Amino acid sequence: MSLLIIVAPLQIFIGHLSAEQVYHYQPTKLAAMEAQWETVPAGTKADWSIIALPNDQLEKNNWELKVPGALSYLLELKPQLDTPIKGLKEWRSEDRPHMIGLIYYSFRVMIAIGLYFAALMTISLVQWLQGKLTDSKWLMGAWVFAAPLGYIAVEAGWIVRCVGRQPWIVYGEIRTADAVSQLPPGEILFSLAGLALMYFVFFGVTLFFGSRIIVKGPDQELTAPQFGKTKFAPDRRPAQV
Ligand code: HEM
Repeated sequence: MSLLIIVAPLQIFIGHLSAEQVYHYQPTKLAAMEAQWETVPAGTKADWSIIALPNDQLEKNNWELKVPGALSYLLELKPQLDTPIKGLKEWRSEDRPHMIGLIYYSFRVMIAIGLYFAALMTISLVQWLQGKLTDSKWLMGAWVFAAPLGYIAVEAGWIVRCVGRQPWIVYGEIRTADAVSQLPPGEILFSLAGLALMYFVFFGVTLFFGSRIIVKGPDQELTAPQFGKTKFAPDRRPAQV
């Protein structure tokens, strides 16, 4: 909880700074993140797309829901853009990312999770200050629901960064196709499969031991510590307390 009070707003702020960097230095990625096919010229306002159905073949969104003018505020904190947002169609097909839907929705999933954490933190903080943090069952449920979300956001962020950067491994300089390993595919497959197996085993072992601890639960037989009764009483209970 204490950590989230610091991290949740910080995450949104840092995410925002990342988006600004992408806007200036990796414009094809920004266009993909926003499923923006046409250029929005400087001096005009840019709408922020909340939900859309991007169509790679037709180079347009089949439908979409937008908040008028919101993207100009998000990127530049201004009603009208100073720097144009270049649309995907400005680049040749081989010079820009594809799978726009994947990039667009990964970005939105990450943002939604970031906002969820911020909302969870705010509501919990209010409850905490009122001394009833653990009173409401739905709030505890919301925390349990939050447990896997950080991992999902990390994966989504990684998709945005790496799929969004294609076809470049170094933006505008080295193509991914030119950076492909010279090693025979069999060797790559072997080391990748080895790593995958190793992590799979770690995952299984973690689940096994983790669930054993959870199923066992806390030791309810142990006496509670007697704080405040004596001036200073060293805690001589067994380490497991
Ligand atoms: C409002 C909330 C958020 C915004 C605006 C945001 C924004 C961004 C942007 C623009 C990128 C792409 C950066 C690039 O390609 O250069 C990114 C990447 C990433 N984000 Fe987020 N993000 C948010 C929330 C989160 C959350 C909650 C997490 C995880 C708990 C997260 C984890 C990541 C990760 C791991 C990457 C990839 C970094 C890398 O590959 O080096 N983000 N984020």
